[in-house]
Amino acid sequence: QLPQQVKIVEVGPRDGLQNEKESIPAEVKIELVNRLTTAGFANIEAASFVSPKWVPQMATSTEVMAAITRKPGVIYSVLTPNMKGFEAALAAGADEVVIFSSASEAFAQKNINCSIAESIERFREVAAAAKQHQIRLRGSISCSFGCPYQGEVPVSSVADVVRGLRDLGCDEIDIADTIGVGTARQVQHVMQSVAQEFPLAGLSGHFHDTYGQALANIYASLEVGVSIFHSSVAGLGGCPYAKGATGNVATEDVLFMLQGLGIHTGIDLDAVVDAGQFISAHLGRKAVSRAGNALAAK
Ligand code: HMG
Ligand code: MG
Repeated sequence: QLPQQVKIVEVGPRDGLQNEKESIPAEVKIELVNRLTTAGFANIEAASFVSPKWVPQMATSTEVMAAITRKPGVIYSVLTPNMKGFEAALAAGADEVVIFSSASEAFAQKNINCSIAESIERFREVAAAAKQHQIRLRGSISCSFGCPYQGEVPVSSVADVVRGLRDLGCDEIDIADTIGVGTARQVQHVMQSVAQEFPLAGLSGHFHDTYGQALANIYASLEVGVSIFHSSVAGLGGCPYAKGATGNVATEDVLFMLQGLGIHTGIDLDAVVDAGQFISAHLGRKAVSRAGNALAAK
């Protein structure tokens, strides 16, 4: 039996936009987050407090966080790789901070400029500060199903990082397919393995759709009891440190599937389609969401 209810974390404003070459005005990002809030998401990844030299597009994060219209109860999350990021997140009033590492050493070096073990050490202070300020703490694990530099990633490496993040006190842990190479049975195997280390109810699937496997992987994850998924409106995105990686699975496609399965999300699909058309129009290209484009054409 599949979960009756699923939490969708909308990551479009962060993961979706971080890789855009042209600088997007803060007002557009704010409007996007506001539209997503209205659509009913309980959790929106709105910004990222990382080095602007590494990810210039996220340099507007303070402005964005200051100007969005927040709905009570909605969790607005931000990425914080270190204390500098945490201080900015705290000042911005983030509800949740995300510490992010990798199951692949090579990717950790490229993305956060340190080893996996060093990242966990670096996060210790961030985690303690989050607890002190009663801010939710989430951990994210890149390359859980494959790495652009290392290739195959053993499930034991994912489990090691899950334990590291768990011991820092994470409320939720994302098992991320950065380059979209995972397939359904593998995904079930990884999810079931890491559920030995961390409560299944707090594990989430973060699937990029590079190889067109994301929806199948979400369905496969549902079958083994995962009930939190990340997706990006209009299928926006890609990681700057994973060459050729495309966006997250499109939120509209996920919602269409979940609706068909009778799974409750509390999100208004039509409003998400509108938000997807809005941001795609701004970017001057067609949305990547199949369901979004089909519904918009109706
Ligand atoms: P570093 O160069 O080793 O750090 O970068 P540093 O401490 O030596 O600092 C270097 C400079 O950056 C200094 O400035 C710092 O002040 C500044 P300078 O003195 O040279 O002028 N700096 C910062 N500025 C603003 N905010 C900060 C910050 N920290 C340092 N928080 C660091 C290490 C982690 C900072 C860097 O590698 C970085 O910012 N990496 C972020 C990379 C990133 O954002 N990647 C994309 C997000 S992760 C992702 O997309 C994957 C995910 O979606 C899951 C999946 O799909 O896999 C989550
Ligand atoms: Mg990602």
